[in-house]
Amino acid sequence: MTMTDPLNVITGAGTGIGRALALRWAEQGRPVLAIGRRREPLEAIAKTQPAIRLCAADVSTESGQAAIEAAVGDSSVGTLIHNAGVLEPVGPLLDQSAEAIRAHLAINLEAPIALTGRLKPRMVADGRIMHLSSGAAHRGLPGWGAYCISKAALSMAYAVLSEELAESSVQIASLRPGVVDTPMQSLIRALLMPWLICRVTGIAQPSGISASTGMRSSSHRAMGGGLVGCPTALFLMHYLT
Ligand SMILES: NC(=O)c1ccc[n+]([C@@H]2O[C@H](COP(=O)([O-])OP(=O)(O)OC[C@H]3O[C@@H](n4cnc5c(N)ncnc54)[C@H](OP(=O)(O)O)[C@@H]3O)[C@@H](O)[C@H]2O)c1
Repeated sequence: MTMTDPLNVITGAGTGIGRALALRWAEQGRPVLAIGRRREPLEAIAKTQPAIRLCAADVSTESGQAAIEAAVGDSSVGTLIHNAGVLEPVGPLLDQSAEAIRAHLAINLEAPIALTGRLKPRMVADGRIMHLSSGAAHRGLPGWGAYCISKAALSMAYAVLSEELAESSVQIASLRPGVVDTPMQSLIRALLMPWLICRVTGIAQPSGISASTGMRSSSHRAMGGGLVGCPTALFLMHYLT
């Protein structure tokens, strides 16, 4: 690795897919800028790999994006991976506050567009940009409205940018990683558990389910008879098959 090697920038690098990618790059001796809101998980990987430098920043805010730009500094950027993402809010779309939906979209949709805008001028001629997409971008899943909408819109952002950057030597890609065992999947399993208990034992746990899915207790009545009304289970059934 030399001071002139282009930087590989990855958001959401403290855990899951982002962490694995950052470590893989670093093991290959490629310099990495690892980004996330929490400093501790970033420090944990930076400690093991000198090729990793960290930037604790929220990709969804102006100040966070400015901090990322500052952390890139004078380096050129070889690869930019928009991996940071959140699932929440979960629960019926019409029950979600505008504020919660806006906060979600700011992370999953606006941030990749804004960061590409800020960092593209720093990219090397054969630079690469990648969006982390999902099967949820292509299916409307009850209870996962914000996530489906943000990933569908991100997929369209990828399609538009592919056209707009067609003349550029910088290439853009969108990846659907499939089901990967990460903290996000643990969260999905945790949300699913109350529903599974209900299905296996027949014992209704409306408070557990409403608390974990954000659904009203009355919605729980439909669950004994099948998947209808259980957004987490519906999501997984669609997602895993
Ligand atoms: N795992 C799967 O099966 C799967 C399937 C399809 C698509 N994906 C996509 O893959 C990507 C990575 O997910 P993962 O499964 O690896 O989950 P994860 O471990 O929860 O990773 C998400 C990362 O994003 C970071 N993050 C969230 N909001 C952020 C913000 N505002 N600013 C900066 N960083 C932020 C989180 O760190 P902080 O909380 O510290 O910020 C976390 O490290 C996501 O875009 C997800 O939608 C995953």
